[in-house]
Amino acid sequence: MMKADILLGLQWGDEGKGKIVDVLTPRYDMVARFQGGPNAGHTLEFEGKHFVLRSIPSGIFQDNQINIIGNGVVLDPILFQEEAQSLESNGVDLKRVLKISRKAHLILPTHRLLDKAYEQLKGSTKIGTTGKGIGPTYTDKISRDGIRVGDIQKDFETKYAIAKKRHLTLLKACGMEVTDLELEPKWFEGIQYLKQFELIDSEFYVNNALRDGKRVLGEGAQGSLLDIDFGSYPFVTSSNTVCAGACTGLGLAPSRIGEVYGIFKAYCTRVGSGPFPTELFDETGNTIRRIGHEYGAVTGRERRCGWIDLVALRYTIMLNGVTQLIMMKSDVLDAFPVVKACDAYEVNGVVTHDFPFSISHDVKPIYTEMKGWNTDLSHMTDESQFPKEFLDYIHFLEQHLGVPITIVSIGPDRQQTIFRNKTQQS
Ligand code: GDP
Ligand code: IMO
Ligand code: MG
Repeated sequence: MMKADILLGLQWGDEGKGKIVDVLTPRYDMVARFQGGPNAGHTLEFEGKHFVLRSIPSGIFQDNQINIIGNGVVLDPILFQEEAQSLESNGVDLKRVLKISRKAHLILPTHRLLDKAYEQLKGSTKIGTTGKGIGPTYTDKISRDGIRVGDIQKDFETKYAIAKKRHLTLLKACGMEVTDLELEPKWFEGIQYLKQFELIDSEFYVNNALRDGKRVLGEGAQGSLLDIDFGSYPFVTSSNTVCAGACTGLGLAPSRIGEVYGIFKAYCTRVGSGPFPTELFDETGNTIRRIGHEYGAVTGRERRCGWIDLVALRYTIMLNGVTQLIMMKSDVLDAFPVVKACDAYEVNGVVTHDFPFSISHDVKPIYTEMKGWNTDLSHMTDESQFPKEFLDYIHFLEQHLGVPITIVSIGPDRQQTIFRNKTQQS
C-alpha cells in the first residue's frame, strides 16, 4: 500500500503552496485538498498565465490527475461555481477530473453574514478574517448543525430552512437584522451546478487509490501558525492546518502519511490581526512588501512583513513531522545587503529557543545577521549557480531547522523552481 505525501504551509499562510503543488503534480496521480475553504488563495503562474485557486486543488492544470475536495474542506457553492466556470472557460475539463467529498460542509450565505457580525462584535480585537464564513461554518460542523455536500441529494430544502432560521436568530441577537438574503438565488444556482460534479466518499476513494498503487498528494491551506490548536490563538483560522488535518480531512490513517513537505518563505508574512514577533515596521518591511508583492491574492489586503522566524519554524516542523523543506521567494531578498534570521526569543529577559504559550507580549526576537547575496537568482536553473552567500543562508537554515531544504523557489513561475541534490530526488 502506498502512502500519501502532504504539502503544507509552515508560517501564516501564503507561502506559495499553490505554485509548488502545481510543480509537483506530475509526480502524482491525485491531488487532494484536506481543509480550509475559499479563505485560501493559491496562485499559479505558467506560460504567462496567472490563476488564483480558492477551493479547487492546485493540481488542476496538469494532465490527467484526479483532484479531490476532501471532507475537511468547507465549500461555498457561489464561489465554487465562479472559480470552476472560470477554469472551464480556460479549457480545463473540470467535471472529468474534479471530485467532491459528500462529507465536505457547505458555507451558507448566512455564514458569511455571521462571520461579519462576529467580527463587528469583537471590535478592536477582531481577527481580521477573510469574511468568507469559514469560522461560522466550522462552528456549525462541530456543534452538529452543519449541512454537508451530500445533503443536497436528499431533504435539502428542509435542512437549509432550519439552518437559515437559526442563523437569522443569531444575527438578530448580534444586532444584524436581515430581511433580504441577497446572495440566496446565486447560492441555489451554485447548488444546482454542484450537482453536475461527481460526489464521492473521498475516504474510500483516496484509500482505494493508495491500495491500487496510486500516488496521492495532500494540499494544505493556510499555514501551521494559523492552526486552531497550535496557532497564535485566537488569531487563527477554524481548522487544523497541520498534518493531522490531512488525516481527518481525507480519512487517512496516520500510518498512511509519507513525505511531509513543509513550505516557507525566505522571510515571513502575515495577513489580518494577531502577534508576529519578527514583524518589521520600517523601510525594510516596506521593501519586502514591495519587491515580494505582498498583497493578499484574493482580498488585496496588505500583508505584514518581517524576517524569517526559526523559533516558530522549528515548532511547526515538529508539529507536522516535516521530512523536506521548500523555501519560497528567495529572489525577493536578492538586493538586501544584510539578511536576518530570528533564532531565539527573549521573553521577560529570558532567552528561549522554544515557541512559548503566548507570543502576544514581550517577545523580543534575537537575530543572526548574514551578508546578503546581492545577485539576481531569478534566472538560475541549477543550484551550482547559487552565490556563496545564498548557499550560506540555506545551510544556516538547514542547520537550525534540522531538515533538508530540497526545493528552492526563485520566482513565481512554474519554471523558477530549483530541485537540490538531484540524485536523491527522482
Ligand atoms: P499560497 O496561498 O501558499 O498558495 O500562496 P499565495 O499564492 O497566496 O502567495 C504566494 C505569492 O508569491 C503568489 O503571488 C505567487 O505567485 C508568488 N510566488 C510564489 N513563489 C514565488 C517565488 O519564489 N518568488 C516570487 N517572487 N514570488 C513567488
Ligand atoms: P492560504 O491558503 C493567509 C487568515 C486571515 C485571518 C485568519 C482567520 O492562501 O495560505 P478566516 O477567514 O480563515 O476565519 O481568517 O486567517 N487567513 C489566511 N492568511 N493565507 C490564507 O490562506 C489564509 N486563510 C485565512 O487573514 O487572519
Ligand atoms: Mg494564499
